[in-house]
Amino acid sequence: MVDKALGTGGRKSDKDLKIRVKSGKGRTVSSTKWLQRQLNDPYVARARAEGYRSRAAFKIKEMDEKYKFFRKGMHIVDLGAAPGGWSQVAAKATGSTDAKPLVVGIDYLEMDPIPGVILLKKDFTEEDAPAMLIEAMGGHKADVVMSDMAWPTTGHRGTDHIRIIHLIEIAAAFALDVLAPNGVFIAKVFQGGTEHELLHMLKRHFKTTMHAKPPSSRSDSAEAYLIARGFKGSNDTVPGEEEYDR
Ligand SMILES: C[S@@+](CC[C@H](N)C(=O)[O-])C[C@H]1O[C@@H](n2cnc3c(N)ncnc32)[C@H](O)[C@@H]1O
Repeated sequence: MVDKALGTGGRKSDKDLKIRVKSGKGRTVSSTKWLQRQLNDPYVARARAEGYRSRAAFKIKEMDEKYKFFRKGMHIVDLGAAPGGWSQVAAKATGSTDAKPLVVGIDYLEMDPIPGVILLKKDFTEEDAPAMLIEAMGGHKADVVMSDMAWPTTGHRGTDHIRIIHLIEIAAAFALDVLAPNGVFIAKVFQGGTEHELLHMLKRHFKTTMHAKPPSSRSDSAEAYLIARGFKGSNDTVPGEEEYDR
């Protein structure tokens, strides 16, 4: 169930647009639409005004305002971090500094440095990525593992579905390895796309699981976030868990 209290996204219909972009000038129809949407998007303007690198920053900010995941001194892992909005929000909320970094982010894209954040340029699905993240965390367990990862879509529904589920599964397996008791796992999912098996597994390991759609997540996007809170700890062996091992 999606938490309706978080809203359903802020997409304007075409008639509400303040800035219209003319097609032509070598732009394709889709790039014209993208540009028009960016220019009319209040979250893009807010991100620029507030110094965030992406409008995505507001998604984690809005979810944190409602669910209060972050606290000062917490250790956070950001999977699929580029260009860095979520890491910026996490660094600010935890009080992370370069002298005592509490946030570790990973992305296969190059990122400019973010104060208080250790950034790894790496594909998270590579076998050595989890070990590199654990090393960057300096032996600390994570209080929050958050994933905004998504592959570029292929246009083939079935393939896209399998690819996103695979990403969420390995993110969840990583979270089970590194989370501290009571930790939180947040992952981007696509509505109607969360595998029952995965949800079932998370329900066994966390006190609560739910889906949320923050207001800044566009209403015409199937994107939502899976939030699992209250990690029960990794000491108990749960039958079936090995399915999610890498
Ligand atoms: C929606 S963006 C994240 C935006 C980010 N949360 C922010 O606030 O700026 C998704 C990111 O996931 C990354 N990504 C997708 N698959 C990945 C993978 N296998 N390993 C590392 N990063 C990945 C993409 O490169 C992309 O930068």
